Amino acid sequence: MKNIFSLNGKVALVTGAGQGLGAVMAQILSDAGASVVCASRTLSKANDVRDSILREGGSSISIQVDVGNAQSVENMVQQTLAEYGTIDILVNNAGVNHRELCVNMTEEQWDDVIRVNLKGTFLCSRAVGPTFIKNKQGKVINITSVIGSQALPTRGSYSSSKAAVIQFTKVLALEWAPYNINVNAIGLGYFKGRMNDSLNDPESILNRIPLGRMADPEELAGTIIYLSSEASNYVTGQTLFVDGGFLCN
Ligand SMILES: NC(=O)c1ccc[n+]([C@@H]2O[C@H](COP(=O)([O-])OP(=O)(O)OC[C@H]3O[C@@H](n4cnc5c(N)ncnc54)[C@H](OP(=O)(O)O)[C@@H]3O)[C@@H](O)[C@H]2O)c1
Repeated sequence: MKNIFSLNGKVALVTGAGQGLGAVMAQILSDAGASVVCASRTLSKANDVRDSILREGGSSISIQVDVGNAQSVENMVQQTLAEYGTIDILVNNAGVNHRELCVNMTEEQWDDVIRVNLKGTFLCSRAVGPTFIKNKQGKVINITSVIGSQALPTRGSYSSSKAAVIQFTKVLALEWAPYNINVNAIGLGYFKGRMNDSLNDPESILNRIPLGRMADPEELAGTIIYLSSEASNYVTGQTLFVDGGFLCN
């Protein structure tokens, strides 16, 4: 039987791949057969992820990028095309968060979150657009959050940015549907890692997760491979929440 989840021969570009969930998704996409471009703010970290993929027998390069800077994003895409000749999958994962009550949030904190999480998603999508449109195929996967759907105090900029990513996903899905391009998002619940290491009151969060625990990063595998592969060819404009049931509350 044909493996509709295979990514053999595909080229995946993952932003924020230097650590955390981006690094894990880069490895998962490689395991599924894709060549993976590890793009991130800190090149040394992206190099480490690339080296780990190469050690496992995969194909990978690393690129330094600031997703909030149009020229830097354009360079990332040109470097990818120079190395692999095409791009099939874009994972807009790079993200930042500043937890602060709105009354205390600085303009810089607000701008930083919107610039990376929202503008970065737009800039990277726009930069791969010509390749996807020319190929009449492509998969965009935007990483958003349950906090983009459910409000939480101290998440003014983060929640706003992630809600906007959900809406941007729908707009881009409409614009690119005529070119057979799928644009979807993954809405993450609480995953173990840096973003959640400093939660003030983890118990109160755990009490609100029906499955009763935070997720292991590796539990993203099924969803990221599904949305990257031909298995999801008739799915577009959706946000698939991987949240242990959090949004059922
Ligand atoms: N962890 C969770 O539970 C959770 C929940 C909901 C949503 N999310 C979302 O999932 C994504 C990954 O989260 P994570 O927990 O893995 O975060 P993380 O550990 O903080 O990693 C974020 C990555 O993004 C990179 N990055 C930040 N700003 C960038 C920029 N301007 N240009 C390029 N790369 C940049 C970072 O680079 P450096 O290495 O230089 O710092 C880092 O590699 C984010 O979009 C986040 O909002 C996470």
